[in-house]
Amino acid sequence: MRVGILTGGGDCPGLNAVIRAVVRKGVQEYGYDFTGFRDGWRGPLDGHTVPLGIPAVRGILPRGGTILGSSRTNPLNQENGIRRIKDNLTALGVDALVTIGGEDTLGVATRLTDEYGIPCVGVPKTIDNDLSATDYTFGFDTAVGIATEAIDRLHTTAESHMRVLVVEVMGRHAGWIALHSGLAGGANVILIPEQPFDVDRVCDWVTSRFRASYAPIVVVAEGAVPRDGDMVLKDASLDSFGHVRLSGVGEWLAKQIEKRTGKEARTTVLGHVQRGGTPSAFDRWLATRFGLHAIDCVRDGDFGTMVALSGTDIVRVPIADATARLKTVDPALYEEAGVFFG
Ligand code: F6P
Repeated sequence: MRVGILTGGGDCPGLNAVIRAVVRKGVQEYGYDFTGFRDGWRGPLDGHTVPLGIPAVRGILPRGGTILGSSRTNPLNQENGIRRIKDNLTALGVDALVTIGGEDTLGVATRLTDEYGIPCVGVPKTIDNDLSATDYTFGFDTAVGIATEAIDRLHTTAESHMRVLVVEVMGRHAGWIALHSGLAGGANVILIPEQPFDVDRVCDWVTSRFRASYAPIVVVAEGAVPRDGDMVLKDASLDSFGHVRLSGVGEWLAKQIEKRTGKEARTTVLGHVQRGGTPSAFDRWLATRFGLHAIDCVRDGDFGTMVALSGTDIVRVPIADATARLKTVDPALYEEAGVFFG
């Protein structure tokens, strides 16, 4: 048996831990051979491979990024995409694919398995934690840790100058990073894509924080948008999902706060720092367990399946369950955090 592995979509801490676990168990327990595909689906499309065996995965557990490279290439949009993948897999003698990715990569994997008979197993990854059917994705805990440390540091500089500090974190469609890091870091306002925000209300919270002699920290997810339709239409655009996006919402919000409250405001955009570097212990643990269970799915011929976390158990679910809809922040959870606003 020869198993191909690819990592697709935005990179995320823990990808290498999955690759290592799949290869280690596959070689040691089942005697499998492996082929690494370069740059997500581009690898099987173009036949770009890297040798993958025990030596290649030595020492990669704590390394961020992915030794295989990644891309957002979608073979379903490429001319003869399916035919090219099938031909390359046959030529390379690859019998099954372990596909590690988010919504897009796994969406392709489920269609390749169900519609084109290409046997794929899915492993869910995204720092955004917005895939359904799994309690957590790896990468999220690391991103929350990085954002929380940033918020801790921003508190002290905000207080030294009695300024508002707006922190923009990742999360285009779901506010998990904002909610978790905002709570962990003691933010005074948390704004998420799921709940359009009222700029005047944000300014009231900011003002009340100053009245209590503290400098406010506002955590805003990159996909959060203000409630005021006119304001949105003036400054926003539509993303590929048809959702309203306000590019640079952190900067935009800081300007609004300054204008409306007269208080000095600064913005920190954390960006890709949240995705880089070494994975947290939790993410290494989760990614490793996902990898160990993913190669068992291959052994069992259980294709079209994704490994998922349910409580502390690793379970198998249809890949389609994870990608059918995004897992967004429950309004009750957001409301719970509201106690700390202002
Ligand atoms: O999906 C993960 C993610 O990091 C999002 O939080 C972010 O909006 C996006 O990827 C950024 O993508 P790119 O690295 O392609 O700019």
